[in-house]
Amino acid sequence: MRLENAVVLITGANRGLGLAFAKEALARGARKVYAAARNPASVTLEGVVAVKLDVNNPEDIARVARDCADVTLLINNAGIAEQGSFLADDAEAMLRRQLETNLFGPLRLARSFAPVLANNGGGGTKDRPGTCRSAHL
Ligand SMILES: NC(=O)c1ccc[n+]([C@@H]2O[C@H](COP(=O)([O-])OP(=O)(O)OC[C@H]3O[C@@H](n4cnc5c(N)ncnc54)[C@H](OP(=O)(O)O)[C@@H]3O)[C@@H](O)[C@H]2O)c1
Repeated sequence: MRLENAVVLITGANRGLGLAFAKEALARGARKVYAAARNPASVTLEGVVAVKLDVNNPEDIARVARDCADVTLLINNAGIAEQGSFLADDAEAMLRRQLETNLFGPLRLARSFAPVLANNGGGGTKDRPGTCRSAHL
């Protein structure tokens, strides 16, 4: 994936793989890296622009799509992995939480950023590990 001169937005970029993606994007010559996190104060990496984004909050998503209108690559990394049995009392609630964050969150982001990417010449989205969804516009 070409990162040179890209403007990259990474969800869940304050720690874990998201932080590693942010470091790698900077190292590979991205023009700008937006490091999105539920708590922007938890973004401590130098050289990135911290933005507040909960992928389950439609208002956050609308604001970020408006404020980060120069994005050319969206990396949907944020996610949760809860362990539990489908036979447990809270199985349905647990599954709903995971679908909200891991499936509908990236879907909301991709839909909101599609016009942004198109306006910027056609960029792309890359989804978190463990899913096989990615799209190139
Ligand atoms: N590491 C692996 O081997 C592996 C393998 C397969 C899939 N994955 C998936 O890849 C992704 C990253 O993995 P990881 O190991 O880096 O996970 P991690 O250390 O648990 O980090 C998850 C990140 O997602 C953020 N996040 C969770 N819910 C969010 C929400 N509603 N809105 C915005 N951000 C949210 C967390 O933010 P907070 O700091 O605010 O909690 C954190 O930045 C996850 O989706 C994980 O399930 C990882």
